Amino acid sequence: MAVQEVLKMGHPILRQVALPVTEFNTPALDNLILDMKDTMVAYNGAGLAAPQIGASLRVMIFGIAENSRYPEAETIEETILINPEFDILDESTEEGWEGCLSVPGLRGLVPRYQKIRYRGYDKMGKLVEKEVENFHARVFQHEYDHLNGVLYPQRITDMTNFTFETELPYYIATKASPND
Ligand code: NI
Repeated sequence: MAVQEVLKMGHPILRQVALPVTEFNTPALDNLILDMKDTMVAYNGAGLAAPQIGASLRVMIFGIAENSRYPEAETIEETILINPEFDILDESTEEGWEGCLSVPGLRGLVPRYQKIRYRGYDKMGKLVEKEVENFHARVFQHEYDHLNGVLYPQRITDMTNFTFETELPYYIATKASPND
């Protein structure tokens, strides 16, 4: 295990535009990916971007088997994407609650495109391409933002929709009230 410290909001590396990976199938890239996996698992994250462990490179991983932090989420097979890009397949967005290991203890309601097609490379440099929607599309867009120095709080359109995790159940109950 090589669990790394997760940088927190405010750290300058989290605001940088990360650099593309130029060499695939290298020990350095393998080690980075292993560290990212170990760190994501240790913190029970749904995804992680390389800048979060201090490497300003365009590498993301995500995957959800069963995640107690996102009990309602669909399962997503473990995916490594290097130098990812995406196309928007449907301009419509959907609001959903997000959290981030770099913003511990908080949740925010963030709009994301519902349907996208992403492409990137695996660690050997092989092209990976997929059409995804809903939570899968959300996780990708969240991690993609990390590669451009953007954290989800910057995407919240109404800051009253930013809350501590512990308050989320009360918060949703109040917000959903028909008398609201
Ligand atoms: Ni994050």
